[in-house]
Amino acid sequence: MAEKLDVLLKEKRVFKPSKNFVEQTNVKEWMNKHGIKTYDDLLEKSQDTEWFWEEMSKIFLEFYSPYKKVMEWKPPYVKWFTGAKYNIVHDALDKHAKGKNKSKLAYIWEGEPGDVEKYTYEELYHEVNRLANGLKSIGIKKGDHVGIYLPMIPALPIAMLACAKIGAIHAVVFSGFSAHALHERMVDCSAKAVITCDGFYRRGKTVPLKKQTDEAVANTPKIKNTIVFKRTGETVPWNAGKDLWWHELLEKQDDECETEKMDANDTIFVLYTSGTTGAPKGVLHSHAGYALGISATMSWVFDIKDDDVWWCAADVGWITGHSYIVYAPLMLGTTSVMYEGAPDTPKPDRWWEIIEKYKVSILYTSPTSIRMFMSFGEDWVEKHNLSSLRLLGSVGEPINPEAWIWYYKHIGNKKCQIMDTWWQTETGHHCITPLPITDLKPGSGTKPFPGVSADVFDDSGKPVKNAGGSLVLLKPWPGMLRGLYKAPERFQETYWKKYPKRYLTGDMARLDEDGYFWVQGRADDVLSIAGHRIGNSEVESALVSHPKVAEAAVIGRPSEIKGESIVAFVRLMKGVEESDDLKKELFNHVGEEIGKIARPEEIWFVKDLPKTRSGKIMRRVIKSKALGKEVGDTSTLANPEAVDEIKTIV
Ligand code: PRX
Repeated sequence: MAEKLDVLLKEKRVFKPSKNFVEQTNVKEWMNKHGIKTYDDLLEKSQDTEWFWEEMSKIFLEFYSPYKKVMEWKPPYVKWFTGAKYNIVHDALDKHAKGKNKSKLAYIWEGEPGDVEKYTYEELYHEVNRLANGLKSIGIKKGDHVGIYLPMIPALPIAMLACAKIGAIHAVVFSGFSAHALHERMVDCSAKAVITCDGFYRRGKTVPLKKQTDEAVANTPKIKNTIVFKRTGETVPWNAGKDLWWHELLEKQDDECETEKMDANDTIFVLYTSGTTGAPKGVLHSHAGYALGISATMSWVFDIKDDDVWWCAADVGWITGHSYIVYAPLMLGTTSVMYEGAPDTPKPDRWWEIIEKYKVSILYTSPTSIRMFMSFGEDWVEKHNLSSLRLLGSVGEPINPEAWIWYYKHIGNKKCQIMDTWWQTETGHHCITPLPITDLKPGSGTKPFPGVSADVFDDSGKPVKNAGGSLVLLKPWPGMLRGLYKAPERFQETYWKKYPKRYLTGDMARLDEDGYFWVQGRADDVLSIAGHRIGNSEVESALVSHPKVAEAAVIGRPSEIKGESIVAFVRLMKGVEESDDLKKELFNHVGEEIGKIARPEEIWFVKDLPKTRSGKIMRRVIKSKALGKEVGDTSTLANPEAVDEIKTIV
């Protein structure tokens, strides 16, 4: 039987951008130039994929030498701009440092204690060159892997750019990951060196990083050197002969360094992401295709103008940071804000203070953060003048309409459209996303980016309308992953086996009558209740829409009668009393929001929910604990202690 997901939550509100706003957008300007009148026309014309992406490349890429073919598709492998010589660092840095953006700020960085550093494009270029020369001086060459284990400090983008500049492949590991996680990734990619720092600031304390790095690289003979950036100045263990201070290594280096002319399809980086089973997957991206995808999406989705101040408040350790803190903003010559620390340090208005201080015009964050700010309350926001904001973004998980509306009202002051961008580590850049000219429906990522082609399939590979199914991408896009490092079978199996020549995203979605996509969450996060399939995230969204609920995680418990029954773990807003009456209220509330079928059989109040370092609630861990199964490795969780909050209920 065809797999169906009953989408019971129906969001009907539509938010249209103002005519004046639409008229001034980058995308509209391009449409006018090409005689394209409407959004639908744009989506249709851009399905001439090679024509469209070639047009885009004329705007965003400068090749060292011309390409032979725009795209070469030998499923499941794609190549873009074959035969060309290219390096993303030319577009991200070199051309700005020698051109009109020379004195423009690339980064305004604020440390958690309040220290500020600013880098112009020219300054950033010189720092990158010095490190690139430093790397060469210790024997790092084109094609070598370099691990980067750094917090949100300018050294992180500098390290990535320095690697890419000389053709070395960076493998950034999120600084919140454990020594074990770093070790595993460094061994997998055979890194020759690791770049880290002494420590960094988080919630008013210093977090040591060098110690953890030492632990991680203790049994990795391939790693010859550890380069250590001095951030906190704390005393660190030192291995003479192996460890090098960043500042000492750079002291004698020239601040010019020739950028390696790479093949357009050479790998730029590997980034590890978790799968449903087994070791993390090393997702591979390459220079020119990736560069084109990220710059085109950033320019059109976020409508970047010369005077914008952009803040993507993710961590560079994730794909969001790789694409939209480091490479894309630099390619567009944008000024970015970067912040080191916690959002509630010293107080829950730190973000709003930063936006006011630097006149941030575009903010890009995640639903988890938005819900956290909701639970802090509006008062913290209202203390600040956020009138510089003109556009907002969301990424990482489905945004529940309640959070969408709060973001729209309280952060955007009802004048900023919200770009709910759906994409993955594997896609490299936004794939399903509104443009600033799109009518928005809260909770929907709207339509594919021009040149991208998506659909929702049932189990037999037939397109389904207005019912849940598997989200698939129908043809290659520029930032498409080029494989999994050293795991070609897993690449084939994970993404290409179910529907040959179509990319399986692993997400469930619904396509509505207007062609809008509603992403429900991962395929393995779908409940089967009395023959109906319901997205866990839908029930969670309904719970969170209750004013007393801060966060919720929903799992399915095997039930003889219904297939599965719903169990919810709920964190309440500060100051709300737990009671049986409230449980009843929430039970009824879900019934009202979605339908009786989605009402949880049990609701448990918890103080915290186990989350990944990127803030995603770990339903799998919660489910294992609740069902009395092996929980497995919790070392990559942000708050492993929260697992104890989950009761075993069988
Ligand atoms: O399930 C989708 C969810 O995040 C997954 C990708 O995770 P990751 O590779 O860590 O990259 C996150 C940042 C791009 C997707 O398979 N996801 C991401 N964005 C959205 C989303 N789900 C719904 N709406 C989104 N806007």
